[in-house]
Amino acid sequence: MKAIVCCALPYANAPLHLGHIAGAYLPGDIFVRYRRMMGDDIIFLCGSDEYGTPVSITAEKLGVTPKEIVDRYHREHERSFEAMGIQFDIFSRTTYKEHTELVHEIFMRLYKSGYFNEREMISPYCETCARFLPDRYVEGTCPYCGNEKARGDQCDQCGKTLDPTELINPVCAISGDRAEFRETKHLFFRLDMFSEKLAKYISSKSYWRENVRSFSLKFIEEGLKERPITRDINWGVTVPLKGYEDKRIYVWFEALMGYISASIVLSKKRNELDLWRRYWEDPQTKSYYFLGKDNITFHSIIWPSILIADSRFVLPYDIPANENLRMDGQYFSKSRGIGISVDDALARIPRDYLRYYISTILPDTGDSDFSMQDLQERVNSELISKFGNFINRLTSFVSANSIDLHPGVNDMEKMQPALSFIDEYGKLMEGVEFKKAIRRWVDFVQVGNQMFNQLQPWRTQKEDKEKCASDLHILATYGAIMTLSLYPFLPESSQRIWKDHLGCSVPMDSEAMEMLKGGKIQFRISHQGIPFTPFSAVQDNSNGLNLVIAKVKDAREHPNADRLYVLKISMGSEERQIVAGLRSSYSIQELIGKKIVVVANLKRTKIRGEESNGMLLAASNGDRTGVLVPSEDVPEGTQVEIGGDGYNRKGTVEIEDLKKYDLRIRNSGGTNVATAVIGGRVCVLEAGNAKVVPDREMPEGSEIH
Ligand code: MF3
Ligand code: ZN
Repeated sequence: MKAIVCCALPYANAPLHLGHIAGAYLPGDIFVRYRRMMGDDIIFLCGSDEYGTPVSITAEKLGVTPKEIVDRYHREHERSFEAMGIQFDIFSRTTYKEHTELVHEIFMRLYKSGYFNEREMISPYCETCARFLPDRYVEGTCPYCGNEKARGDQCDQCGKTLDPTELINPVCAISGDRAEFRETKHLFFRLDMFSEKLAKYISSKSYWRENVRSFSLKFIEEGLKERPITRDINWGVTVPLKGYEDKRIYVWFEALMGYISASIVLSKKRNELDLWRRYWEDPQTKSYYFLGKDNITFHSIIWPSILIADSRFVLPYDIPANENLRMDGQYFSKSRGIGISVDDALARIPRDYLRYYISTILPDTGDSDFSMQDLQERVNSELISKFGNFINRLTSFVSANSIDLHPGVNDMEKMQPALSFIDEYGKLMEGVEFKKAIRRWVDFVQVGNQMFNQLQPWRTQKEDKEKCASDLHILATYGAIMTLSLYPFLPESSQRIWKDHLGCSVPMDSEAMEMLKGGKIQFRISHQGIPFTPFSAVQDNSNGLNLVIAKVKDAREHPNADRLYVLKISMGSEERQIVAGLRSSYSIQELIGKKIVVVANLKRTKIRGEESNGMLLAASNGDRTGVLVPSEDVPEGTQVEIGGDGYNRKGTVEIEDLKKYDLRIRNSGGTNVATAVIGGRVCVLEAGNAKVVPDREMPEGSEIH
């Protein structure tokens, strides 16, 4: 089979978290590894989605150019995927010229065929900034609830979706000046022209996941309308038409074409310029799109419409969209916790354990929960105690008794459970039901362990050496089937076991599977113990930080150190003296009256003769320093929470202890806030209703100490 496997192109504006991995990238990688193992001809495509307001808004907030943002996150994402063992054939970028060229070509083709309408629209405009404003750059009073800080696209107080023209007293969010409304022309894509074809196309996809199919059909039933596909912005793919020089193509309209442009970049990389056409232009090619459910209609409605209009390339064969991953009951990437980033997860969890656990909880038909406790249990009890143990018993017995494995006669009956596993596993994998497949795999490992017990090699070794050798050949075959079918999920560990423990010299592919079915694989077993080390999510019972909001009452220069100040602070019920190294970055006047965050249970000490009872937190990056403060005024003495409750703040801590929290400025919901890592999870520091933030703009990633 010839297939194109695509994973939704992640926006290059924020770190990847485990929700992304579980929702799109790991399933895509598992599928590709499985199909390749079965001998299919596949290209595996992804890349960074780099244009549009998601990126320019992030850039504007951080005071850098969009280009800096996308360069940084493109590299970061590439590294994260590699670290997860997710191996695309190409991880492209929508800022590549190949992409722009392809987008322009398709765009003009559709334009000339009459799929676009030009229309005048009324849009918010800021005279000071001399530009049209994207909806979320307009602020004003909500006509429904009176919230004065409603955005042009929605009111966060009452939740209503808004149109910027509805706002009372609309202002530009950047300049703060009055926004006016001006006429501007845009191109609209005539989605309405595709209703019938799309309905027919989707109705015929009986094998699609039910949620994807019914959601898409409902979307069509509600009526398809033409959609604006140009924007008055400057960060995007240019519009190849006169009169549109100041406009750009809407990010979604061009990002989808990123799948094809990625394959063009791949063709160049492989020095085979027509490679991409061989896949996209062959009606027999099956194309798969792995993505989160927010992206469904873009892939099941808009993308097929573009492809139908263009008429050269295959339509999506399947769109296995996933629901969401939660962490301890909360959604990833929602305002509060940022969830757990790929890098943070990999800092604590070996890659294959993480891949294993996520595979067992994939949110394929409903939301699912990630928890460190559950991860530890599953890894230790399934992967290690069941599978690792099977490999260990097998290899240790064979080595200790120098058994010369060979197939016996009449062994086919004992193979029956293995054959039915292979059959069911194959169907589940082909049907993109990986969670079920890995769970079926665990059952099979159990069957293998039972078989070991029934065959009692330790007895036959004494009573019937011939039977012992052939029984162990069967058991080794079981072990090899377990290992081979684990490959798509745990590529690294399974290859290691295949080669080093079982001593199989043939490649891990469908031919090996056929040979195993017939009991024809050669083993050179070598005992190396249990092939995994147990995993401990380290329950940390040591003392935790007690962070409290304090107010600076007084500040003076330290008599014996020119970098230090001596501060008098009030924590509500208690006054204290602390020493702080802020002299090069803050004046005494700037500090007095400021609400700050202190580590209240730091071991008391004397610094150059002055007592210091606590420590003030500040973020720093190179020579830039920003003291941490509450984002809104809260009373002194307010406790700072890290990710809600559940972490302890008892006893006293030492400066060294701060390290394990990895305190840092990170981006949460578009703003840079102070965060800590607790139990592998990135948590925002909060004080009452306020978040803890640096009092000066600090780059993301700045360390806090
Ligand atoms: N960048 C989008 C997101 O992260 C997905 C784009 S998929 C594409 O939600 F195909 F359009 F690129
Ligand atoms: Zn409102």
